[in-house]
Amino acid sequence: MKPLGKLRLGVNIDHVATVRNARGGDTPDPLRAAKLAEEAGADGITAHLREDRRHISDADIEGLMQMLRVPLNFEMAATEEMQRIALRHRPHAVCIVPEKREERTTEGGLEVAREENRLAHFIAPLREAGCRVSIFIAADARQIEAAHRIGAQVIELHSGAYCDAHHEGRFDDRDRELEALREMSSFAHSLGLEVHVGHGLTYDTVKPVAAFPEVMELNIGHFIIGEAIFRGLAPAIHEMRRLMDEARAPEQA
Ligand code: PXP
Repeated sequence: MKPLGKLRLGVNIDHVATVRNARGGDTPDPLRAAKLAEEAGADGITAHLREDRRHISDADIEGLMQMLRVPLNFEMAATEEMQRIALRHRPHAVCIVPEKREERTTEGGLEVAREENRLAHFIAPLREAGCRVSIFIAADARQIEAAHRIGAQVIELHSGAYCDAHHEGRFDDRDRELEALREMSSFAHSLGLEVHVGHGLTYDTVKPVAAFPEVMELNIGHFIIGEAIFRGLAPAIHEMRRLMDEARAPEQA
């Protein structure tokens, strides 16, 4: 199968806000990072407004909505508060993620299958407001079928287990996780869902995932923001873009 189109890169700016909040002031400014990312060729900006506001703030979301020319992918938990905020701003996309206060990052995918009814009701007004609704899930056929049944247009597959296995040198596990991502991308696409992938991706892990023809978007944050310390944000993004393009069309790269 030929790739379905140009692979989009969504740059997640949460961790610019993490550094800002470590000192409680105004710098570094995530909006400035978003602007720079946009100028460096990001196809979208992703930001997760957590219930505990540990990184992105309500004012950041407000600012991003006013300033961005590329689409905002607003990550949020399925709570009434977040639904109200999303309906007020009507971002291009809303990605529903599981959230636990005690976790350091989004550890797993959403349990859609167990909460189908509630989530169907939860996302309906978001869709009616014109947001593209994405559900962040593990590479698991049950969850994909449930996401499809509740009316999501997009799924984002959690690549954390694949990336962790790679960086920990557990290569059999890595290959198994990668195979699950590949199979489930294809399965989700066959149901008519748009497929995104994200979490934990680095220069070392991005290419095999970028090569999956059904994947339309990668959302990458922590590694790019970390790499920006060493080479600057724009060059860090350019290198990710280069690797994605190389994986997508090796003969043209
Ligand atoms: N996609 C989703 C749904 C996420 O929750 C996150 C982390 O906030 C990312 C992508 C980006 O992950 P990372 O920061 O590890 O690149």
